[in-house]
Amino acid sequence: MPGRTEIVKLLAEQPIGSEVKVMGWVRSFRARRFLVLNDGSCFQNLQVVVDFERFDEELLRKIQFHACVAVTGKLVESEGKGQDIEVLAEQIELLGACPADAYPLQPKRMTMEFLRENAHFRMRTNTLNAVFRVRHGLAYAVHKYFHDNGFYYLHSPIITASDAEGAGEMFHVTTFDLAHVPKTEEGEVDWKQDFFHRPTNLTVSGQLEAEVGALALGKVYTFGPTFRAENSNTTRHLAEFWMIEPEMAFFDIHDNQDLAEDFVKYLIRFALEHYPDELAFLDQRIRNEEKNMPKEKRRPMGLIEMLEFVLAHDFERITYTEAIDILRKSKDFKKGRFQFEPAWGADLQAEHERYLVEKKFRKPVIVRDYPAEIKAFYMRQNDDGKTVAAMDVLFPYIGEVIGGSQREERLDRLQARMRQMGVPEEELWWYLDLRRFGGCPHSGFGLGFERMVQFVTGMGNIRDVIPFPRTPGNAEF
Ligand code: 4AD
Ligand code: MG
Repeated sequence: MPGRTEIVKLLAEQPIGSEVKVMGWVRSFRARRFLVLNDGSCFQNLQVVVDFERFDEELLRKIQFHACVAVTGKLVESEGKGQDIEVLAEQIELLGACPADAYPLQPKRMTMEFLRENAHFRMRTNTLNAVFRVRHGLAYAVHKYFHDNGFYYLHSPIITASDAEGAGEMFHVTTFDLAHVPKTEEGEVDWKQDFFHRPTNLTVSGQLEAEVGALALGKVYTFGPTFRAENSNTTRHLAEFWMIEPEMAFFDIHDNQDLAEDFVKYLIRFALEHYPDELAFLDQRIRNEEKNMPKEKRRPMGLIEMLEFVLAHDFERITYTEAIDILRKSKDFKKGRFQFEPAWGADLQAEHERYLVEKKFRKPVIVRDYPAEIKAFYMRQNDDGKTVAAMDVLFPYIGEVIGGSQREERLDRLQARMRQMGVPEEELWWYLDLRRFGGCPHSGFGLGFERMVQFVTGMGNIRDVIPFPRTPGNAEF
């Protein structure tokens, strides 16, 4: 708009004495004098001083919470506390009224559940505003990290015919009229008549395609939407989430762990450096929330303190077998505090992961070499004949943020495993070809982007770190 200046620019340059025009949404209008605006250009607000006698009563009444206004006036040094500069309003124009009697949001504390039901407005609140700024920053940092380290961004397909993880948690993609699905003579669905002439689904992982890329470009990463039709209503699961999957030729499981640790630390450092205001706000928010909680329910550290703590320490690295051993020897197990028994061969439950991270080591832990039976077909078989070179990175509060592995590069071993697990070889002929022609040792992992955003922002529920969460029964907005 002609003559308009972004608030971020005014705060940075502070052109005292000049005439400025700003546009933004009303955060508050205290005593009909102090009008606080935010235009999204930065987390901070701008204060506008209004001499109400100079303005029309009708207009003043419409300057309500979250209304949108344009203000022209002189920029001056502020006499009040809390801001360096303010604007003395000369003209105020209402761009968009926001009638308080009908608007669902209110200038007071609202629950996260309530805000989720108003996902089209919730980004206007300080909390969600801060979260989505940090989310953006982390996404940018993902690309920057990989670009600076010689990786290539590979766009893996969203529609695919394979189930990379073999868990069968897929959303079908079809153009069939579901009321009249074509059938073969045998009465089966006739996929030949569907759009792709075969059954297809939304991707659960871009890994298999990333492996194709790694065996040509050396180091690649994917960063895209990922879909899982798992019916889990937890604070850690979404049906649509974003995953970052680096894949590297010539990396073994140890190189893979080194990269994972370096990468997530880089993301945390980036957020601390570039989003101090947002993180300070989110830190304070958690403190306020925990004020009335019993001490044992409160987090042991503040948000920023926790982020700095993670940066300052090497992640603990243990094997799955060691983890089971530690868990079985723990007081928590002996006193019957676990709901699930930690037993070799069974997957680690969230409570076990939290014990390792929050009680035993008190820092992030990387667990590797899991039993082959509980992991996907593509993981490299270890010499013990029982485990595979898998790795999970476990974080405080969140649990698993990363899952990865060294890949099985030996054709015969991979085929044997696929047969055992019932993974169709004929469909994955191209994946097997990577082992037939110019194969090499390689590794990779997947970082759940929302879980990472959750950790950095301290948000308790994954639904509050993605703009429009998709969960069982929820696809509004
Ligand atoms: O451990 P997962 O299933 O690993 C893979 O998909 C591998 N193909 C990755 C690879 O090696 N390239 O998923 C990786 C991460 C998990 O650690 C978790 O952070 C996240 O993706 N994740 C989810 N995040 C939100 N909602 C869900 N339903 C998720 N499922 C997995
Ligand atoms: Mg996993």
